[in-house]
Amino acid sequence: MKGVILAGGLGSRLSPCTLVTNKHLLPVYDRPMIYYPLMALVNAGIRDILIVTGGHFAGDFLKLLGNGKEVGLEHLNYSYQEGEGGIADALSLAEYFAGGEPICVVLGDNIIEGNIVGAVKDFADQGGGAKILLKQVEDAERFGVPELSDGKVVRIIEKPKDPPSNFAVTGIYFYDSQVFDMIRGLSPSARGELEITDVNNMYIEKNQLTYSELEGWWTDAGTFNSLLRASNLVAKTGANKLSL
Ligand code: G1P
Repeated sequence: MKGVILAGGLGSRLSPCTLVTNKHLLPVYDRPMIYYPLMALVNAGIRDILIVTGGHFAGDFLKLLGNGKEVGLEHLNYSYQEGEGGIADALSLAEYFAGGEPICVVLGDNIIEGNIVGAVKDFADQGGGAKILLKQVEDAERFGVPELSDGKVVRIIEKPKDPPSNFAVTGIYFYDSQVFDMIRGLSPSARGELEITDVNNMYIEKNQLTYSELEGWWTDAGTFNSLLRASNLVAKTGANKLSL
């Protein structure tokens, strides 16, 4: 399985900090945000990793990470997203890299306490389709939210006013190679972006989406509140701990 980290976007919710750097290079406790999703993939045994970024500061990822030696890699792949087309648009840039193999996609501002090695194995055993990871939260309306019935996700609503459950769809997704054709079939949402939630709903319609609940804490870090929360959680307990 290959890994893809999506680290583009304007990070406008973190302005003015993001006027002078990419959101994913801002510090979360003692290291730049991008280290956490990168370590999550490396700790799960994924070695072939693509970072998709964009904007004015894309070159700084190379300066920081180079070939990934510091996180135990020999090579890192990079791709550049033109414009602000959204998460699914950024993911479309991974098609050549994926080369038909299954992928684990992590949003660059998602930080986890634990390890996704179990989910990586489960998806490999699943033999195709998609898998999402859910986490119970108190502010579900900030996220993609699943409606659950009989142990299945029946649909996902992006940032619902009235959430159908208290779960968030975390920014850790597993897809087979169908994902790129699905993205080609998407239309921009009201906010002008290609939404990853629309992709996940396409897999649900085909009855090909499974889910697991993520263990340990999970947070995004794309707003000042969540960035502070992320730093405090990492300072207190550490992130991406290996399950031995
Ligand atoms: C994105 C996804 C959302 C998901 C969240 C996880 O939201 O659209 O479905 O729950 O990431 O971090 P965004 O960060 O773009 O608001």
